[in-house]
Amino acid sequence: MNASVTKEKSFHISPLSPDFGSILEPAPGATLPDPAEVMRLGQEAGALLLRGFSFELESFVEFTNRCCPAFSAYVGGGIRFRALNRDSLGAGGTVMSTTGSTQSFPIPLHGEMYYQKLRPDVVWFFCRQAPAEHGQTTVADGRLVFERLSPRTRDTLLSSRIRYIRELAADDWATSFMTDDPGELKRICDANDMTLEMRSDRSARIEYVAPAVFPAGENRHSLINSAILLWEFERAVVSGAAVAVLGAGAPEKPPMVVRFEDGREIPEQIMREIEEAADSATVRLNWRNGDVALVDNRVVMHGRRKTIGADRKVLVRLGNLN
Ligand SMILES: [Fe+2]
Repeated sequence: MNASVTKEKSFHISPLSPDFGSILEPAPGATLPDPAEVMRLGQEAGALLLRGFSFELESFVEFTNRCCPAFSAYVGGGIRFRALNRDSLGAGGTVMSTTGSTQSFPIPLHGEMYYQKLRPDVVWFFCRQAPAEHGQTTVADGRLVFERLSPRTRDTLLSSRIRYIRELAADDWATSFMTDDPGELKRICDANDMTLEMRSDRSARIEYVAPAVFPAGENRHSLINSAILLWEFERAVVSGAAVAVLGAGAPEKPPMVVRFEDGREIPEQIMREIEEAADSATVRLNWRNGDVALVDNRVVMHGRRKTIGADRKVLVRLGNLN
């Protein structure tokens, strides 16, 4: 790897992978990098790993506060669901654990909160405790994923939008949207361009239609959405695999499914092709204690490999650029 040096000559930049991403490390004696420079490098690279800065929870919060003007408390989060709900660990609820108490299952690649309009521009990760084995966060540049698909599948995804459909009991929408007030739920849905159908038993059907791919620079598109994760989750619930992992906390039916806009199921052949392209573009972040990573949620998907043991503590913050 050819290490280069930033203009301040205090930091080294090296590639995270041959395809995309960067690692930023301090030169001896250097302190934290300039937040504006980190944001510039992060957006240029798509994913930026800050290594060797020995972040603690407090310095992670302070530093990210200087990088992003706003943070989300994950209101409407699709993975805010029973055993998968996140713990809030500070900074007004914007520092969160990942997917509840168990991390023993892999999380397929996804863009964060692509099932609603208000979503983070940046996903921040902070490794408080690296797992002894496995448990890497995965990242894949959606532009590369899209470019590795067949022309036919690319055309299908460019011409067909996808529909995210949530069927939530009263307790479950209250958990996800962090309110038990139907009026507030309606306001959140309106702000997100989501349709809401509230039934007499207070269960709710919430739908959102969005592209599967998004323009990303000149003549390029990025495949970034929540389709792979939700498609795999639906299969896991239907097959019973979810119960095997989550036990009593597993849903009896999927809390959210993904379809084409007209309601048709997305053919397995297309999903498998997307998964294969995503796998081939996947880069693993092998965590060390004190690492921080920035992932540009507008073009780069993220996920997680299965974790062995219970020592992994990787925290998340969802940032916005304005
Ligand atoms: Fe995520």
